[in-house]
Amino acid sequence: MTSTSPAQASIRSNTVKPSLSRRFCVAPMMDWTTSHYRYLARLLSRHTLLYTEMVTTGALIHGDTDRFLRHDPAEYPLALQLGGSDAGELAHCAKLAEQFGFDEVNLNVGCPSDRVQNNMIGACLMAHPDRVAEGVRAMADATSLPVTVKHRIGIDGRDSWDQLCEFVEKVAGAGCRTFIVHARIAILEGLSPKENREIPPLNYDWVYQLKQRYPHLEIIINGGIKTFAEVHQHLAHTDGVMLGREAYHNPWLLAGVDPEFFGAPAPFHTPHEALRAMLPFIRSELERGVYLGHISRHLLGLFHGMPGGRQFRRYISENAHKAGAGLEVIEEALARVREPEASPIVTA
Ligand SMILES: Cc1cc2nc3c(=O)[nH]c(=O)nc-3n(C[C@H](O)[C@H](O)[C@H](O)COP(=O)(O)O)c2cc1C
Repeated sequence: MTSTSPAQASIRSNTVKPSLSRRFCVAPMMDWTTSHYRYLARLLSRHTLLYTEMVTTGALIHGDTDRFLRHDPAEYPLALQLGGSDAGELAHCAKLAEQFGFDEVNLNVGCPSDRVQNNMIGACLMAHPDRVAEGVRAMADATSLPVTVKHRIGIDGRDSWDQLCEFVEKVAGAGCRTFIVHARIAILEGLSPKENREIPPLNYDWVYQLKQRYPHLEIIINGGIKTFAEVHQHLAHTDGVMLGREAYHNPWLLAGVDPEFFGAPAPFHTPHEALRAMLPFIRSELERGVYLGHISRHLLGLFHGMPGGRQFRRYISENAHKAGAGLEVIEEALARVREPEASPIVTA
């Protein structure tokens, strides 16, 4: 039997949203930062700002809006990331974001995939600062939520410092105060999205220089950040950090965020406690008809680098997809990892 832990009970019963800070954020990641991942992330840190996967304006307007915007109030503070470039559609979706309770609406100007380029979504918009500015202005007029932009430092053929500044100035002029900057260019011709997260070199210096040049803007740095030591270094030059892959593959890292960056207690001492606290949520999702594998795939990294972590991962991978698989798969997997007396809260 499982019971609701004090930490989880406090998340569920807390009707006051924690204030929004962008000092530490988890990046929007398609198929990864689903509502199930975000629930886990929120259990591990009360203060980290979470982002949804990107949802295109077309999908929201013409598709199943409720399904795309569905989230658990326990996930707050939570930002909705939009993909799009039509000002009217962006304004409409910004309103939806507010109606559905999100804390921020973010525009994706960083995704390099061909599919989105063809629809004038993502990084290709770095070549169209006026169009981005028009979209941002329409969103800002339509909602009282903060409107933020996540972008690259450039794209192939438009990768100079002056062009980056022109982009930021135009978009800031339209009402965006917060820029989340992935510190590498995107190469739109010839690299896959994955390669575009690895091959173009990181240039943190330009992000630091943006903060120096525009001290009134909030500048959040993203790209290749893995450890708290690196986070501290970046915080000396910027207003916040955004972690993507590391926060996904090693989610227990998040359990150290509240004490390390917000002066608040860690919600859990061990990943075991955190996973046990998640069991009631998993049970209610299963009861709703959700397939266990859709939830459990986000748990695979929870014991990353710990004794038994591989057995945990393997047990779930081998069993969660079987017909009728339920909560017992998670409990069995958990029993394979020895619980330390007091766990190291992460990774410096
Ligand atoms: C699987 C995956 C999906 C992603 N999807 C999105 C997305 O929907 N929107 C977006 O702005 N960036 C997306 N990104 C990029 C991340 O938000 C982030 O900018 C990038 O991974 C660099 O940060 P990191 O080095 O900390 O991972 C995605 C990255 C990954 C790995």
